[in-house]
Amino acid sequence: MPHPTGHLPLAARATGLVGSVIDSSTSLLAQQSHDVVRFAMGSPAAEAVPTRLLAAISAAELGEDAADAYAYAATEGDPGLREAVLSMLASTGEATTPERLTITSGGMQGIDLACKLFVDPGDLVVVESPTYTNASATVLSYGGVVLEAPTDANGLVVESLPALIEAAGRLPKAIYAIPNFQNPSGTTMSLPRRHALLDLARRWGCVIIDDDPYGLLRFEGEELPSLRELGQGEPCVFSVRTFSKVLAPGLRVGWVDAVPELGQLLINAKQAMDTCTNLPAQRLIARFLKDGHLHSHVSRLRVEYHHRKIAMQKALSTHLGDLATWTDPDGGFFLWVTLPERIDTQALFPVALAEGVAFIPGPAFSPGGRFQNALRVCFASTSPERTLEGVSRLRRAIDRLLAAQDG
Ligand SMILES: Cc1ncc(COP(=O)(O)O)c(C=O)c1O
Repeated sequence: MPHPTGHLPLAARATGLVGSVIDSSTSLLAQQSHDVVRFAMGSPAAEAVPTRLLAAISAAELGEDAADAYAYAATEGDPGLREAVLSMLASTGEATTPERLTITSGGMQGIDLACKLFVDPGDLVVVESPTYTNASATVLSYGGVVLEAPTDANGLVVESLPALIEAAGRLPKAIYAIPNFQNPSGTTMSLPRRHALLDLARRWGCVIIDDDPYGLLRFEGEELPSLRELGQGEPCVFSVRTFSKVLAPGLRVGWVDAVPELGQLLINAKQAMDTCTNLPAQRLIARFLKDGHLHSHVSRLRVEYHHRKIAMQKALSTHLGDLATWTDPDGGFFLWVTLPERIDTQALFPVALAEGVAFIPGPAFSPGGRFQNALRVCFASTSPERTLEGVSRLRRAIDRLLAAQDG
């Protein structure tokens, strides 16, 4: 289709921008006037956002005499939040130092910064297949070439990488991985594979973009050391973190933990994007952390999300048990559902929306358009009752689609 802005002198990269089906679903759903059960966005449950506490902190930190909280902040982050993040991490395997820390505008900016620093047009970037749409879109926006690598119940099949790279005929510049409760599959990379991935990155001289927004939200299974922890500060690990999933995505605050030599480059790159991260949001989070709320908040979330995952699996067994298979995440937000091959989830989407349920179709998670018969559901945002209702609507939509196909 000719691009509608064909008469404008667009940069070559502009027409190649692919955007995110996930993010676009927010506006699409906002336009719906009927009742829709929303399994689409990877958002914390509305009731999981501690609004009362945030309102109290806001009144104290952002009151009438807090004009300085509305100024520009330092690009590397407001000192109060930097200090609070350092002390939050101090007692964990991810303990870090001020020279390694850059506060970002959410996890997405961390991914963007990584690509801005490491990906030239034509560079090869390995991603898990399926992967987080926005990250592959970011790689593509810098002209990177995405190489989709297989995943299984233990995450990225690291053993498959040498042959894939040999077939590609060149080494990757970066490997983008979501080791815990992956988006969209919900699977977790095993410990041996984490070690093997680090070995490969060392051997190939590439960087691992270690994206872990859900790591704190483990509700089952054994805690595994992160790539950041296993790498012990090695230059090949570039870690991206965010408060979006454990606190609130609208705050748009996260951080990057990277080798100190990158510090000034990160500042330069960020200054050319947004100057600094939203200061009122940084002040809110700093006070939330300093007052010691994170631990109890996250403990509550873990219990609730566990409950909600089980509710989603029960609902799937009840309504789709004869048709579908799904993953069994130990944490995070997502389940990956695989349907029979004759069900195209992109064709299913409008039928499901009309029935009153929304999900993200599988091909959104693959730049090559794979997973046509799979879909992602977020179990975190809906109550068990709504989940059951949503899955029964999904079944009705599948039956309608199949009847229309067969008829
Ligand atoms: C794997 C992954 N990385 C990064 C992000 C983006 O995080 P943020 O909202 O903080 O930009 C998300 C959000 O869905 C995600 O699932």
